[in-house]
Amino acid sequence: MEPDEWVEVTSLRDLERRRRRLVVVGGEQIGLFLVGGTVYALRDVCVHKGRSLAKGTILHGRVICPGHQWAFDPASGRPDGQEGCQPTYRVRVEDGAVYVDPRPRLPVGEGNR
Ligand code: FES
Repeated sequence: MEPDEWVEVTSLRDLERRRRRLVVVGGEQIGLFLVGGTVYALRDVCVHKGRSLAKGTILHGRVICPGHQWAFDPASGRPDGQEGCQPTYRVRVEDGAVYVDPRPRLPVGEGNR
């Protein structure tokens, strides 16, 4: 783990209690979500009309935007039945601490390996 890429943002215990939260890392507004025991990170500003995903809900394994209820796959950032893609970020959990790499990943099929 290269320390300049990973930023500690919260604890797993905190996410177990809240399920979702907004953090700001390197100028990026990042929504963290605990879904099915896994921590995911999505850009918090919705790709549709800019609402905060961290103010939404988690339902049936999807992150639901509070704006117009688009349902995002937290792993890929893809909304069910809609165009576009929410940028995602790499997440690591070590010793109860949650780390995020604030460099957004490219959507699947658009250049990431
Ligand atoms: S702003 Fe997110 S679904 Fe419309």
